[in-house]
Amino acid sequence: MSDLAAEPRGSHTEVRNAGLFFRRWLANPLQMGSIIPSSPALCAKIAKLVTLAEDEVVVELGAGTGVISRALLAHGVPPERLVVVEIVRDMADHLRSVLPGVNVICGDAFELSRALPERLHGKVGTAICGIPLVMLPLEQQQRFVDAVESVAPGRGFLLYTYCITSPLPYGKLNLTAKREAWTPLNFPPASVWRYRPAH
Ligand SMILES: C[S@@+](CC[C@H](N)C(=O)[O-])C[C@H]1O[C@@H](n2cnc3c(N)ncnc32)[C@H](O)[C@@H]1O
Repeated sequence: MSDLAAEPRGSHTEVRNAGLFFRRWLANPLQMGSIIPSSPALCAKIAKLVTLAEDEVVVELGAGTGVISRALLAHGVPPERLVVVEIVRDMADHLRSVLPGVNVICGDAFELSRALPERLHGKVGTAICGIPLVMLPLEQQQRFVDAVESVAPGRGFLLYTYCITSPLPYGKLNLTAKREAWTPLNFPPASVWRYRPAH
């Protein structure tokens, strides 16, 4: 998709705002899951896995500083077809300032059917999750899976993680799992998993 893209404003370094990220980690380490934003290498691997039909959008859940959003734009996702959901108001404000034209929603990914405008239900080409689901109990993980399923039936989602094995107990969540990418060029090294409903 990259030939369709206008180069988005702001370098990876400008967008990543490591200070804001670290302050949020200090405030709520479980919600952030990492001390520093994702690396350019990881962002690029995620962007390559995105699929998007003409009438669809990409939805990024837990966009943090927006480094992955920016990689998606650089890869060719048009800003008006990128929707990012971020629960922390300061981070959502930061995202609005560094991602012009992108639909930034300050809301809870676990309440996705409410957060996402109804006209986009069933129009999600790819959902990407940055929320550290691995740290949550099974019931919460199931809530997240159900939330994605409610707006993107049958599509599943991408999840990036520092775990060596699957961060989700996919059998218990009635999902299939595939590790689609891995990079040592992130701190810590990271994988990207794709989960889909097993039925
Ligand atoms: C690991 S960070 C994202 C990192 C991002 N890729 C980056 O490198 O900047 C996880 C993000 O998910 C957000 N988050 C956590 N729980 C959330 C929820 N329920 N709904 C939406 N966002 C959430 C956090 O505020 C945080 O910004």
